[in-house]
Parts: sequence; structure tokens; C-alpha cells
Amino acid sequence: MTSELLQRARQFEEDHIKDISPEERPLYHVTGGTGWINDPNGFSFYKGEYHLFYQYHPYSNEWGPMHWGHVVSKDLIRWERRPVVMAPDQDYDNAGCFSGSALELPDGRHLLMYTGVGRVTEEDGSQKDYQTQCMAVGDGTEYEKYEQNPVITTAVVPEGGSKVDFRDPKIWQEEDGTFYAVASNATDDGNSAILLFQSKDGFHWEFCSVIDRSDKKLGWMWECPDFFELDGKHILMASPMEMMPDGLKFHVGHGTIYIPGTYDKETHQFVREDVLPIDSGIDFYAPQTMKAPDGRRIMIAWMQAWSTSKFVPKGQKYFGQMTVPRELSLKEGKMLQKPVRELEAFRGQRVFHKNVKISQETSLEGVSGRVLDMTVHLKVDGKFRSFSMKTAQDTEHYTLVSYDPEKEILSLDRSHSGLQYDLIHTREISVKPVDGEIMLRCLMDRFSMEIFINDGSQTATLTVYTPQSAETISFAAEGEAEITVEKYALSF
Ligand code: FRU
Repeated sequence: MTSELLQRARQFEEDHIKDISPEERPLYHVTGGTGWINDPNGFSFYKGEYHLFYQYHPYSNEWGPMHWGHVVSKDLIRWERRPVVMAPDQDYDNAGCFSGSALELPDGRHLLMYTGVGRVTEEDGSQKDYQTQCMAVGDGTEYEKYEQNPVITTAVVPEGGSKVDFRDPKIWQEEDGTFYAVASNATDDGNSAILLFQSKDGFHWEFCSVIDRSDKKLGWMWECPDFFELDGKHILMASPMEMMPDGLKFHVGHGTIYIPGTYDKETHQFVREDVLPIDSGIDFYAPQTMKAPDGRRIMIAWMQAWSTSKFVPKGQKYFGQMTVPRELSLKEGKMLQKPVRELEAFRGQRVFHKNVKISQETSLEGVSGRVLDMTVHLKVDGKFRSFSMKTAQDTEHYTLVSYDPEKEILSLDRSHSGLQYDLIHTREISVKPVDGEIMLRCLMDRFSMEIFINDGSQTATLTVYTPQSAETISFAAEGEAEITVEKYALSF
């Protein structure tokens, strides 16, 4: 049954989606129909299509009572919009249908697991939001909330766990048929724990174990956990709130981490081996992964940051977009990220410049544009003191990526990229050459740049709001740098 609130959201989207022209949107990055989006949710493969849901407030460019928006795709690149699937229309989720995940049930139904935020008026008249885990089932278009919601409440969290902050369930099914879910629970000592739950049927859950805990330095609430096997290890991913900086490894504020380790499936104990950043750019949060039918582990994230999310660029009629879906693999304990291979089908003509010597600001024939896939190989051979690349450039604007070979620092600067606000516009990332070079694969799509550094062993993602007419790309060096550039325009 479609509730009034859900009907209203669908109608609003239908009435207003046409106010945003295709030119105002990116070409291959997911945006909401209207209004605001944040975390990717329910990323899954169902009935021959990839499904992606998202935290959605269709009515304005600000976060508000959360709905779930929905898009589907056959190739992870071209997405088609489906009607909004959930509105905050029940007592247990009247303040929002928060983040969650999805899978296909053995009986062929699509199961969504999410956090219901129920606002309760306490005896003293104050209002409090309680978070519980809830479910909905559907056929890929229409979804019904489960009549026995919520399915996991804070009654079962370990002692010292918060009754309020308990969210973002990520569900999966093991080969023996057992369902598992990890969720984040704040703890009374100012940290949070990633809790593991298990279920025989996907609906009735019991607490299993604590997978890991934050330790203040790595933020307090670890939002949006994910837990999966990757090339022989287990990876715990999370988006910690309010991290402390740690050299250039972690910046202050909300960040994203992955923890490779070993997991004992019998005892449900996880032993961490390292803690590393997932993305070192400016706009990246709440990643979620899914396993594709061909076995690939694919991740997508919100291409925004909470710290800057109140600053909607002037003239922008919607807020928030997703990253490109990225294939994950593990090499020597490090996660590699690559844009999904499906993107290559949309490449146009190849432009190739080999071993070009760069000193003064130079553009290369055929290397320009705002929707492209470009790889730059920079030889680190002691002949230059600094190298820089400007993209989305015109006489007033540019986005700067530069490399200091002595300090081994890659810097980003988007202070001339169309945002008029005093926000975070720069980042420094420690990047070491591999086999004598730095490799930067840059995906651009009108309002963003995703940089895959050295085969994707590090990434840096940022949004830019430069006018689309700023299409120049230029290179410069202090001293003489040698680069090889391969560039493809992308068209859809
Ligand atoms: C992360 C997050 C989640 C929550 C959702 C609410 O960005 O705060 O923890 O479920 O956003 O929209």
C-alpha cells in the first residue's frame, strides 16, 4: 500500500523533476530526482539489474526527513529512475528511513534492511529519536514495510551501547544460507562498536559478536559499516564521525576508513591488521559495496562531505551525487579501486601523447573537456621541482593538482573551481612514485573529478562547480617534467 507520505514524495518528484535540465546534471554520476541526496543504500543486483537506493529529501536541497530514492542500471553507468520506495510513514521511522542495504531473498523477493528513526515524546515532554533496524520487501519497484518491524532493537545491544545511536545495517548471506548484518552502535565511553547479527530467515535476528570498535582517535560513531571478503582477507569499512588528524593519512573531521584483517567465521571474531583511508580527496563519504554476479566487489559512495553540505553552490537545483562505481581488489594489504570496466564502452576516440617534456604552462592537442577519462603518467626522475595540472580551466577558473617530488606530496586545490564559500578546498596526500612514476587516472563528469592514483591504490574525489565552458587542461613544471597522456572523451 502506498502511504500518503510516499504518494506525496512521488508526486513532488514528478512535478519538479523537469525543473532540472539534463545539462544541469552529470552524465554518468547518480543524482536525486529533485532536492537532496546523501548515502548510497541498498546497492544490490536483483532480477538482472543493479539497484541503487539513496538517502533522499526530495523537497529541498537540505537534509530532511529521510526517504529512499531508487535508480536501476544494467551497466552501472546509465541509470534509470524508479519511483521513491520508502517515506517516513510509520511510528518506528517517522523521523526518517535512514541508511541500509539490500539483497535478494531465496524466494525471489528483494529485501531492504534500514534504520528506522522513531521520534518519541518522553514523559517530561522532550522529544527523542530512537534508532532500530527495520525491513521492507518488494519486487524491484514497489516495497512494503515488514509488519513486524522493527526487527532489531537496542534491547539486544551489548551493555554500554547507546539506545539512541544504532544504525546503518549492512546485510549479506553466507553460502550456508545464514544471513548476517553489521550495524554501528555508539557506546557510553564516547566510541562506537560494529555489531554483528545473524538470522536464519532474514527477518528474525540475534546478536552475534562485536567485530571492532572505534577508539576516539579514529572518530567516535563509525557510520555506514560494511564487512566483506576481498581476495583472501576480510575488510571492515566505516565512515567515522569527527576523526582526529594523523599526519597526511587522515584529515580532521568525518572520514572513511578500511580495515583489512582476518575473520574467523566460526567464532565471529575479526582481527584487524591495518587502518587506511578509503579516499583522500574532499568529497567522499558513506561508501557501500555489493557483490556483482561475476564475483566483482563493487563500491559506490556519496560524492559529498557533511562539513560542506550546507553550502549549496549558487544556481544548483539539487544537492548531492554518487561516485562512479568502483571495482575493488586487494594487493599487498592495500585496497585498489578502479572505475568499473563498463565505463570503457563509453570512451570516444583515443588521444595519446607520449613522453612530452613540460616546463611552461602547456596544453596538448585534443586534451580538454569536462566529461572524460584521462590517464597521466608523470616520470619522477629528479628533473623537476614541481609539476602541476590544471583542469576545468578558463581565464578565471581552474582546479589544480600538483606534485612535489621531494616531499612526495600530491596536492589538490579547488579554490578556483566555482564555489564562492570559505570551505575546505585543498588537500595534501602523501603519494610515493611506483616504478619511477606517478600515475593519475582522472574521471571528470561536469561537476566532479575522481583521481585514481597509482593504479587506484589511493584515490582523491572532489566536486567542482566551475562553469561548463571552462574546458582547458594544461600542464606545467618547475624544471622539466616528462609526461605521457592518454585521454578519452566520454559520451552516453
Ligand atoms: C551517514 C548518515 C547515516 C544515516 C544517514 C542519515 O551519512 O548519517 O549514519 O543513516 O546518514 O541520512
